[in-house]
Amino acid sequence: GERLDFRTSKQRLLVVANRLPVSAVRHGEDSWQLEMSVGGLVTALLGVKEFDTRWIGWAGVNVPDEIGQKALAKALDEKRCIPVFLDEEVVHQYYNGYCNNILWPLFHYIGLPQEDHLATTRSFQSQFDAYKKANQLFADVVNEHYEEGDVVWCHDYHLMFLPKCLKERNSKMKVGWFLHTPFPSSEIHRMLPSRLELLRSVLAADLVGFHTYDYARHFVSACTRILELEGTPEGVEDQGKLTRIAAFPVGIDSERFIKALELPDVQYHMKVLKQRFAGRKVMLGVDRLDMIKGIPQKLLAFEKFLEENPNWRNKVVLLQIAVPTRTDVPEYQKLTSQVHEIVGRINGRFGSLTAVPIHHLDRSLDFHELCALYAVTDVALVTSLRDGMNLVSYEYVACQESKKGVLILSEFAGAAQSLGAGAILVNPWNVTEVASSIGYALNMPADEREKRHHHNFKHVISHTAQEWAATFVRCELNVTIVEAQLRTR
Ligand code: ADP
Ligand code: G6P
Repeated sequence: GERLDFRTSKQRLLVVANRLPVSAVRHGEDSWQLEMSVGGLVTALLGVKEFDTRWIGWAGVNVPDEIGQKALAKALDEKRCIPVFLDEEVVHQYYNGYCNNILWPLFHYIGLPQEDHLATTRSFQSQFDAYKKANQLFADVVNEHYEEGDVVWCHDYHLMFLPKCLKERNSKMKVGWFLHTPFPSSEIHRMLPSRLELLRSVLAADLVGFHTYDYARHFVSACTRILELEGTPEGVEDQGKLTRIAAFPVGIDSERFIKALELPDVQYHMKVLKQRFAGRKVMLGVDRLDMIKGIPQKLLAFEKFLEENPNWRNKVVLLQIAVPTRTDVPEYQKLTSQVHEIVGRINGRFGSLTAVPIHHLDRSLDFHELCALYAVTDVALVTSLRDGMNLVSYEYVACQESKKGVLILSEFAGAAQSLGAGAILVNPWNVTEVASSIGYALNMPADEREKRHHHNFKHVISHTAQEWAATFVRCELNVTIVEAQLRTR
């Protein structure tokens, strides 16, 4: 295959994802404020530095008027972002509906929604139609900005229909697709009424990537069992056309976190936190408020721990930072009230006049506050019921060089495959096991903490987002896949 020296000629890269790294908030008729978006996809892609990159993504807000659209496009242009404008109805059916009420829960083994959708296939179909329409609109914008030689990299479950739309318009375009969630067992994927069409359109890409070998294997099985295609060691073959399929485990921009710890502002936050919780051990949870994160399970395990260990009751606190997400989807609204109810009950049960065991915040933190929290806490608790990778666990490890805190990590997160040796792995459904792991972590001797941390730290600093992207793009440019995979090990 061809080789490119990325140091001398910067490869142009079009990143296409539903979410842009910044989200717009309207201030007046044609003025916009841009805020950082939250989520693993954005964190991973922000670490991508060595390409001449443009992002194409949904504007994140409804902008019906042309003046507003122009103003927003101009503001985004400074961030090298190109907006795709979707009207309210499409967003409702495509983003809230098909993406986050159907594909997201299914890919995380939660299943398909029962009452409102499957009873009326018409509603399912109209959401799928909106999904295809939205993907076509993304394709229009890609086409408009595409230049010969560009690499196009499509991301995530929102855009499974995009590779096909792009190839139909320009068969020479180099198209890659990467999934940031798990790809479930083919037995789960089979449940999806649009199972055939989605697989076929993903296969139109030249290269298809997943976080782990298991997800890649599940995808190949879905193609062989559901589409009856032939799986080869390199990928899947359909009428002589090979779509290459491989694992590309993502990482973070670890240096950004490590360097931030030296900043006066971060040091200041660390000092405040240390004073605030002096004399107590601090456990940390940082999640989008999503049903896949197992937040209720985490809280119940913490409750069980307090119940069984009265001596710890005034000596440990759990800080749970949960940023609201996809708040127009009913399942997410239900989860918010469920979590609030559990927190209230536990604090009522074990709190005192001066202290509560759980501090729950419903908001996102800025980068400096987040780094400070990662650095000063004793234990991080990640209890995802399923999670493509989970970058919060990487961020925690990156910030723990001096404290050497313990990571309790769900075995159902992709990160369990890379950080499993240093973390305490748990099954989040087993509340008893998680509760006893909390005790084990809080009592862990310094030498064991050091050994475990060291193992994970080495991994986090050597498997970065930069490496991940470079490996994927090199592969897309036809370097042999074996060579590229060796680099990720
Ligand atoms: P997901 O992709 O499901 O959102 P990840 O753990 O891979 O999960 O990534 C989450 C990203 O969002 C991380 O970079 C994390 O720092 C960020 N994040 C999550 N919750 C918060 C929060 N409350 N405040 C700030 N950032 C957050
Ligand atoms: C996960 C998904 C991303 C998504 C992020 C935040 O990381 O894989 O595609 O951007 O969650 O969710 P949101 O719906 O706000 O984009």
